[in-house]
Amino acid sequence: MSSQIVRSASRAATARSLLSASKNSRFYSEGRAVSAAAAVTFSGKLPYLVSSFGRAGSSTASRSWLSGAIAIPAAAYTLQEQEVHAAEMERTFIAIKPDGVQRGLISEIISRFERKGFKLVAIKIVVPSKEFAQKHYHDLKERPFFNGLCEFLSSGPVIAMVWEGEGVITYGRKLIGATDPQKSEPGTIRGDLAVVVGRNIIHGSDGPETAKDEIKLWFKPEDLVNYTSNAEKWVYESN
Ligand code: RTP
Ligand code: MG
Repeated sequence: MSSQIVRSASRAATARSLLSASKNSRFYSEGRAVSAAAAVTFSGKLPYLVSSFGRAGSSTASRSWLSGAIAIPAAAYTLQEQEVHAAEMERTFIAIKPDGVQRGLISEIISRFERKGFKLVAIKIVVPSKEFAQKHYHDLKERPFFNGLCEFLSSGPVIAMVWEGEGVITYGRKLIGATDPQKSEPGTIRGDLAVVVGRNIIHGSDGPETAKDEIKLWFKPEDLVNYTSNAEKWVYESN
């Protein structure tokens, strides 16, 4: 009862194919007791997987794991279904601005992202310099409010965060609401908690490229924590 699958494809395609294959196989129904070993490169090279079907801990599975292990690099680690899914997840940069921090809204704002089902993968409190704020808002440098905006962002502590999840860039912006709190819908962060555009308490990346740039500006790669949340199975599984 052991077979091996070796696949080479793009990261997302690999993840999807393994997920769909797993749904029709015995090892899916055994949930976390999957004996799947993986060598996945996250640095641009094509990932490849070596999987062995069977119960983890059974002698068959152990043997197939061992034989598979010989063929894969030392960096191989056990691939859980959630980790396959995590490979497809996007990330966004979210900041609680000095007004949100001073008004005691940190936990309220974090809670909205957390309760939605998104995952926090980096967080720090920092007072950005004005030069840093100018870099962050560089695309607005021609706007009349640019100087005041950068003065304000660098005027006190900011909570810088990276949130991860399916659709988190676009949906994060929905949770945040329109730039001008007067136009933000009730139920959104700005709609519920802010009144004027200059004190709209939170920033969120407005697209995939911005998200990538902003995460890179605010965090070192090693500050981002890869982990599997226990809730992921309950947030993402479909029937
Ligand atoms: P953010 O970048 O902070 O998430 O805000 P946003 O995408 O909703 O809006 P954006 O156009 O990028 O503007 C950045 C921030 O500049 C301030 N602002 N002031 N006085 C004004 O008319 C004005 N317009 C924008 C806001 O604080 C806005 O969040
Ligand atoms: Mg913006």
